[in-house]
Amino acid sequence: MTAIRSVVLGCGSYLPRQILTNAELAARVDTSDEWIVQRTGIKQRHIAAEGEFTSHLAINAARAALADAGIDAQSIDLIVLATSTPDNTFPATAVAVQNALGIHHGAAFDLQAVCSGFIFGLASADNFLRSGAFKRALVIGAETFSRILDWNDRATCVLFGDGAGAIVLEAQPQPGESSDRGILTTHLRSDGRHQSKLYVDGGPSSTGTVGHLRMEGREVFKHAVGMITDVIVDAFQKTGTTADDIDWFVPHQANKRIIDASAHKLHIAPQKVVLTVDQHGNTSAASIPLALTVAVRDGRVKKGDLVLLEAMGGGFTWGSALLRW
Ligand code: UT7
Repeated sequence: MTAIRSVVLGCGSYLPRQILTNAELAARVDTSDEWIVQRTGIKQRHIAAEGEFTSHLAINAARAALADAGIDAQSIDLIVLATSTPDNTFPATAVAVQNALGIHHGAAFDLQAVCSGFIFGLASADNFLRSGAFKRALVIGAETFSRILDWNDRATCVLFGDGAGAIVLEAQPQPGESSDRGILTTHLRSDGRHQSKLYVDGGPSSTGTVGHLRMEGREVFKHAVGMITDVIVDAFQKTGTTADDIDWFVPHQANKRIIDASAHKLHIAPQKVVLTVDQHGNTSAASIPLALTVAVRDGRVKKGDLVLLEAMGGGFTWGSALLRW
């Protein structure tokens, strides 16, 4: 039996030039490099320059992914851009990316699932590709969280950073087995009972302002590992795979302690875990494609490798994706 799979053709990323270190943050709020590293694993984060928007980061990441794939932008007929920090309330930042790439056919839209945005975007694009509606998709995660942080709130401003990552997917016929290349399974979940634990206190319909990020960090932490591991177990069960089969675990990069605890609970060996939270901080929807690109470029993730992705964030939303590179 054959199956249409969404196969990865390439990936790319972009980070703003400016780096903000823990020491620099400690000069602004009552915190320390020691506290941030010990509690989160974060050492630095990138911050978008004035006038540098989410679309600019996304366009750079998309161009890098297209170059890596070795394909012409004109062959892309779907762009899904996951972001919680769009350039404007509307139109979608995805159409700015589409226009900058000179694409005037197909469809482009934004998707909002906060830190789980890339997984939700991947699952959406995968379903469109497998249905035959589109042939080649760009899935992008791009954020400028620096614009929605309360820089006086030490409990949140030390955690996040800006950046973008993208992958190119193509619908390809595969044998229909777990040894196929491409996305093998995705699992998405949400539970709105947790809305007030991680949210932004503004918006076009409520306050008419952009607002600032608010988080009950300990509450998010408490739920994170259980939710993450649940959807990963779903992915293992659906595909008949186990932690031993995984070549690389590329989790959402929010906190090293959450990542370590999730890997430990699932019996995923530490050397299989891709970590970038130390360098990027939490870049929300951008964190997974940023980490993936690092691991592909440094030669860790290779064609044929089984790669496990997961994310959890505001909403709460959470999800997993298992794919063969
Ligand atoms: O992307 C998806 C969503 N986000 C997450 O996954 C984040 C989940 N949560 C976390 O990662 C952690 O809860 C944090 C890193 C946010 C916080 O770590 P924690 O170990 O849960 O610390 P805490 O919130 O329990 O705070 C411990 C102490 C508090 O002081 P007291 O009450 O014990 O005196 C805080 O006021 O640390 C204090 N604190 C800080 N101290 C220095 C909070 N932020 C800071 C800071 N520097 N930046």
